[in-house]
Amino acid sequence: MSTPQATVPSGASRLGAPAAANATLQIRALSPVMAAEVIGQDLRQPLDDATRQRVHRAFLDYQVLVFRDQTLDKAQQIAFTQQFGQLEEHRARNRGGDDFPLLHVVNNLGADGRPSGEVKSTAWHTDKSFRPAPALATILHAVTLPPDGGDTCFANMYAAYDALPDADKAALAGVRVVHSWPMSREQGGRAMPADEIRANPPMSHALVRVHPETHRKCLYLGVHAAYLEDVPFDAGRARILALEAHATQPQFVYRHRWTPGDVLMWDNRCLLHRADTNFDAGQHPRVLHRTCLVGTPTEGQRIAREPVYAQA
Ligand SMILES: [Fe+2]
Repeated sequence: MSTPQATVPSGASRLGAPAAANATLQIRALSPVMAAEVIGQDLRQPLDDATRQRVHRAFLDYQVLVFRDQTLDKAQQIAFTQQFGQLEEHRARNRGGDDFPLLHVVNNLGADGRPSGEVKSTAWHTDKSFRPAPALATILHAVTLPPDGGDTCFANMYAAYDALPDADKAALAGVRVVHSWPMSREQGGRAMPADEIRANPPMSHALVRVHPETHRKCLYLGVHAAYLEDVPFDAGRARILALEAHATQPQFVYRHRWTPGDVLMWDNRCLLHRADTNFDAGQHPRVLHRTCLVGTPTEGQRIAREPVYAQA
């Protein structure tokens, strides 16, 4: 991990072009396990090349970046996101039905616009791990926050892998984990229409994923991880749950306590995350704007083989 409190110039101009409005960028580590605050950048402004590269480097080093006191509207958040890759389209229907299908409004509001008491995405997961090209990054911007709580928690899958005994690491080499959107919905008690099941076939991934940019090994788990390929279903489930219990211990977790204007940008390839219900979701609205970047398939990613069930 890079040295905390490093200050680097980011506004160096190229070929006489004007320097960025914010001439310096500071990176300040927020915890020993991950996360850093990026200070000195108004995200409404396009990033110059040097700044974009510096932010990208910090993203790889710290996995979660926090930009404070931002005031992005939807178009500005989309423009910020696009500087780092290709935007993902969201399947979930946007509330409000406006012109921004590339931005998903995360909220706890009912059809009447009032707090419903329900908080989504409270189980550990990594975004879109059931897709042919799972998400690279997610960007979340706080719009309306409860008076306190409503935190988002992150677990570092590099650190969780690194901490495993060597024998466990050896045993996991070559193991394939199947991430399935229909099966994770089913576990949450929500049936899925047949056409949606067909459109989301189960995906086989390396359980120990190699990050495509850092080339570090990490665990690829979360609520969409349904079973282990070619392993009896129950034994595979037990293995997944045991690994997840290991990987989400406090020493691997960073808890983000939101403040108004925060923009978070995190790396889905090496983290799990979840929303915490530590606020009164029936009383207080919690609204965040979410954009995602499309990633690349994991090593050998393909449609998975069916689960194996033990003979009766
Ligand atoms: Fe998520």
